[in-house]
Amino acid sequence: MQVHKSIFALVALTVIFSCTRRNVSSTVGSTSQVESRIESILSQMTLAEKIGQMNQVSAGGDVNNYVDALRKGQIGSILNEVDPVKINEFQRLAVEESRLGIPLLVSRDVIHGFHTIFPIPLGLAATFDPALTEEGARVAAIEATAQGIRWTFSPMLDIARDPRWGRIAEGSGEDPYLDARMAEAMVHGYQGRTADSTSMAACIKHFVGYGAAEGGRDYNSTFLTERQLRNIYLPPFEAAVKAGAMTLMTSFNDNDGVPSTGNTFVVKDVLRDEWGFDGLVVTDWNSMGEMINHGFGVDRKDVAQKAVNAGVDMDMMTFGFVSHLEELVKSGAVKEKTIDNAVRNILRVKILLGLFENPYINVEAAKAVQYAPEHLASARKTVEESVILLKNDGILPLNGTPRILVTGPLANAPHDQLGTWAFDGEKSHTVTPLKTLQERFPGRVEYVPGLTFSREKRSGFADVVAAAKRADVVLVFLGEEAILSGEAHSLADLNLKGSQSELLAALKTAGKPIVATVIAGRPLTIERDLPNVDAMLYSFHPGTMGGPALANLIFGDVNPSGKAPITFLRTVGQAPLYYAHNMTGRPYNGETLLDDIPAEAGQTSLGNTSYYLDYGAYPLFPFGYGLSYTTFAYSCIGLDKDTYKADDTISISFTLSNTGAYDGTEVVQVYIRDLVGSITRPVKELKAFERINLKSGESRTLTIQIPVQELAFTGLDGIKKVEPGEFRLWVAGDSASGTPVSFTII
Ligand code: BGC
Repeated sequence: MQVHKSIFALVALTVIFSCTRRNVSSTVGSTSQVESRIESILSQMTLAEKIGQMNQVSAGGDVNNYVDALRKGQIGSILNEVDPVKINEFQRLAVEESRLGIPLLVSRDVIHGFHTIFPIPLGLAATFDPALTEEGARVAAIEATAQGIRWTFSPMLDIARDPRWGRIAEGSGEDPYLDARMAEAMVHGYQGRTADSTSMAACIKHFVGYGAAEGGRDYNSTFLTERQLRNIYLPPFEAAVKAGAMTLMTSFNDNDGVPSTGNTFVVKDVLRDEWGFDGLVVTDWNSMGEMINHGFGVDRKDVAQKAVNAGVDMDMMTFGFVSHLEELVKSGAVKEKTIDNAVRNILRVKILLGLFENPYINVEAAKAVQYAPEHLASARKTVEESVILLKNDGILPLNGTPRILVTGPLANAPHDQLGTWAFDGEKSHTVTPLKTLQERFPGRVEYVPGLTFSREKRSGFADVVAAAKRADVVLVFLGEEAILSGEAHSLADLNLKGSQSELLAALKTAGKPIVATVIAGRPLTIERDLPNVDAMLYSFHPGTMGGPALANLIFGDVNPSGKAPITFLRTVGQAPLYYAHNMTGRPYNGETLLDDIPAEAGQTSLGNTSYYLDYGAYPLFPFGYGLSYTTFAYSCIGLDKDTYKADDTISISFTLSNTGAYDGTEVVQVYIRDLVGSITRPVKELKAFERINLKSGESRTLTIQIPVQELAFTGLDGIKKVEPGEFRLWVAGDSASGTPVSFTII
């Protein structure tokens, strides 16, 4: 298990990693060696063999279905086969029985762990800990590659500002800066910082704007302007490309009328020409075929032409390339050099992963690394950092050995705790809160579920209330089943489903302290439930090790430090509501609410500002929010200068003090506001964050540096640059706190 030890050491490495994909290839030769190898293979290929490389098929099941196609070189990649014996057989047919012996790229959605399941990506983002996130992605790569999977369709970098969208679970939330840092971490984790047999190609997805689906309805249209793309939606992708991401997936949505899979502007102009991406571009599942449904092409031949000419290299499950590219080339509608380039991009990934040298895996060794103790420990630590403490009336942390009532539909839900896209996680390995608590406090735990699953409707909770009266404390685990978030699982109502709120209200009548933990795939609207609990922890689906981590948090072995990577709404009608909204012409400055308006009031608007009459201007919890068992104070915030030039670095110093009774970790966040621009600017933008551990009573003076170039944006002239002018800067524990300091850029 040598390999694991080195992985955990890597997070501490301080060497500067040069951000190019080439570094990943160090063991397979220099760039020019790789390129000449590509040319040599390409020169031997027939047109049909080239097109075969551009075809990806879902192969789960019987290898025999594919023998002929593999021998003829008609498949370049498979997805959805995880049986290592079958994967070896697929590779054998491609490598030993096809004319040129080109190995297959074996792919899978390894989204937040392979067997050892980590928190869903929204939960990873709540850690604000890129190093730990990288470690988790490395664990996923070790487990998945051992079984023959060398390409994962992760990370998802879609900025999501509407929690109705079910896929909000799969990304890092609403903020481009946080998303970009997480993107880099996952790319490094999956691919490894140096290439070996545990390197798994990352696939950044979905390119682009998919998270802005109208109304949060999955697969819906988006209407993002080029400036919104450049300032909000593209930056995480650009960061991931710079970090060396080997592949990218186009998205399902049409943006302003152009489906991504046929979008020359985003794929060719931006990704290829501006960013110089020479990795592999794959479609989403049948997203080429869906261009026919969009009314963007008449038939499969038409959409195949549009996709390949837009810069797509590989077709996932439309079979448009294998069926039509040959005739399209012959008719001149597609140039053979376009096909050659696509094949180069595909071969490059195969060569860089070392697949030509090592196409096979050792089936026995594959078993040994799954659920390794250090993998489980890493997953547990990640949950501990990811859980957000939203409310604490002083009850937490619990101590001693109280008599505990464990209740609620997520207390013992080994499948649902894993969250969405946990294909290979096995519920038999999940450690639930109930299991942990029963082991930790033998004879002290009574379990009355109240509801068996999150949507269950029931009236009368006499059994649960009676049990609560027998206990010293009630630990209730609520939330969403895994199936309620993720792809194709958008919701119009974000309250706790079924009779969960009624369960809480009933529990309250028992008069015992109630600690609620919400386990969900998105930020639910829990405002009405908060008064019924003494404390609330929020855990985005935590994965395999949720139980031990939550128990450690509730009993104070670990102090909560997770922060909201997404705004928590009071009611779904506020969506979309995000902290980095633009400055309006009528900035919010106090509220007249519904009840303040007299009957038969005359029409007024003057002096009013941007908010809802019934729900005001604010969310329930802002981006970046999260409590601790201790308290932190910020003081002496200062900048090294008043005025900076575009190539300077801003050095921010401040004192952070742990003013409470517990040791703890604060996620320090730095926000800026650009007061005047050539276009209106966001009221605040996150530009740096850092996790700081402090002992109770400890104070430390810290420095955070931000290159002025980090403040650049694409303005009216379409050029990304820092515009001179006045700025404000906050150093705080969330996006709604702190007192700003000023500086000027000249
Ligand atoms: C999803 C992708 C996923 C692909 C392959 C699609 O439905 O949108 O995110 O990677 O399926 O499973």
